[in-house]
Amino acid sequence: MDLSYILSKELAKKMILVHPPEPRKELLLSGISDGLYLGKTRYTNTPVFWDFKRLINPHVSIVGITGSGKSYLVKTFLTRASLIWNSNAIIIDWVGEYENWVKQAGGKVIKLGKEKLNLLDLVGVQKRERIQQIVSALDVLLNLKENSEQRDEIEEALEEVYSTKSKPTLIDVGNILEKKGYKKAARLVKRFTSEGSDFFAGKSTLNIKSLINSGLVCLDLHDLPTEEMRSLAGLTILQYIKEIMRKEGIEEEKGIKLFVVLDEAWKIASDERSDVITIVREGRKYNFALIVASQNPTDIHKTIFSNVGTMFVLRLVLNEFRSYVKNSVGYSDFIDSEISKFGVGDAAINMIFAERQAKSTTFLLNKIDGEEPLFLLKIVGDGMEVEIERDQLMKMLYELGLNESQLGILKLEFEKNDGLLDAENIVGLLEKFGYSKSSIIAFLRQLGIEEKDIIKIFSLVKMRKATKGVVNVVVEDE
Ligand SMILES: Nc1ncnc2c1ncn2[C@@H]1O[C@H](COP(=O)(O)OP(=O)(O)OP(=O)(O)O)[C@@H](O)[C@H]1O
Ligand SMILES: [Mg+2]
Repeated sequence: MDLSYILSKELAKKMILVHPPEPRKELLLSGISDGLYLGKTRYTNTPVFWDFKRLINPHVSIVGITGSGKSYLVKTFLTRASLIWNSNAIIIDWVGEYENWVKQAGGKVIKLGKEKLNLLDLVGVQKRERIQQIVSALDVLLNLKENSEQRDEIEEALEEVYSTKSKPTLIDVGNILEKKGYKKAARLVKRFTSEGSDFFAGKSTLNIKSLINSGLVCLDLHDLPTEEMRSLAGLTILQYIKEIMRKEGIEEEKGIKLFVVLDEAWKIASDERSDVITIVREGRKYNFALIVASQNPTDIHKTIFSNVGTMFVLRLVLNEFRSYVKNSVGYSDFIDSEISKFGVGDAAINMIFAERQAKSTTFLLNKIDGEEPLFLLKIVGDGMEVEIERDQLMKMLYELGLNESQLGILKLEFEKNDGLLDAENIVGLLEKFGYSKSSIIAFLRQLGIEEKDIIKIFSLVKMRKATKGVVNVVVEDE
């Protein structure tokens, strides 16, 4: 036999052996109405569908460095789940990064900083139980375990306030503590009731129950004044969701009823007393699914980590994080090294199938094949506003002759301002890039901006130059 033939046969065998195993095709493929399409496996190009009925539970965790594609994956999940199963979603948005997307996807954005959530509302539970819930939330936030005296005092004040007032608030609790001379405990509680931070002390304006059936909802926590307030809001909302979940009873429905999304919610995802853990433990039988995403895997409590049915590892660089994930999921050195080399959207996926003999395997996905709704940008000026789709604007700017780095600068400006930019800023930048007034005017016309507004924009640019003249001269001299 021809030697080269044997060699190439050997080589071919090796090629097959060389790649890490992927789950059997029948575990990954599924009908488009049963599973959520994610992309294709790296080696056998098998389409991957997320079909939670085949998994031990519907919970998902996502880790990866900033920009690796966590939020994009969350958005893809929610968009498709809503199409397939009509799933609802509540995003507990720590940094306010989902607002634009949720609005564009037709969802509801609720800014918690503008609402009130009375911490003492019972929302269907017994007083005794609510007291325990409040104390446990404060445990997480105020480290009450180490201040057991204050813990008892707060509990005592809560009991008193519920028996003496019909609609008590946290302010009443603070007052009782003060009256009793429990100074330290009073101070702790007042962190949540002082002027401007009385978010938890007034009459509730939020109805969590109705939000659970409202399609896509973003609870934007980022304008709450402190990290502590954001955490208390997050914990409280989860407590309510848990109660509602338990009351709804076992679900026979075919799809996921509600996705609860926690993105970068480290304080509440890392504490075992938070109801994240309860939702992970009990969610399956109610068709409630949790999605936790974080840049730092060690922020996600190990109970969550070891209990989720699906884990996405996007690009990770830090050794410490990589070995933490590798040890808890248990994949090969090869996969670990690939993870460190991932591009945006590439993922290692670990799925734990419900089927008995199925091994849990971690396999590589080329790129999350996702979708985002059209991304609208706004250009504003004195009394005018133009809305344009991001790709469309970038195409127009490209046609105008901007190069990649100039496009990048403009994109960044939009991103910094949440998708909104003053027309005069754009004109200023285009001038800096060397465009003549006439070509800029032609561009503004193309955007649909009216003549009178174009005149206004240029006079603003001129005025700004006059006031900032000195700075400009310095910059241009360099
Ligand atoms: N699979 C993908 N395909 C195409 N583009 C993607 C993909 N994943 C992410 N992107 C793009 O990459 C950028 C960063 O993604 P994303 O915001 O999801 O990162 P992130 O991991 O959430 O980062 P951070 O931790 O900073 O929030 C976005 O502009 C997003 O549209
Ligand atoms: Mg993100």
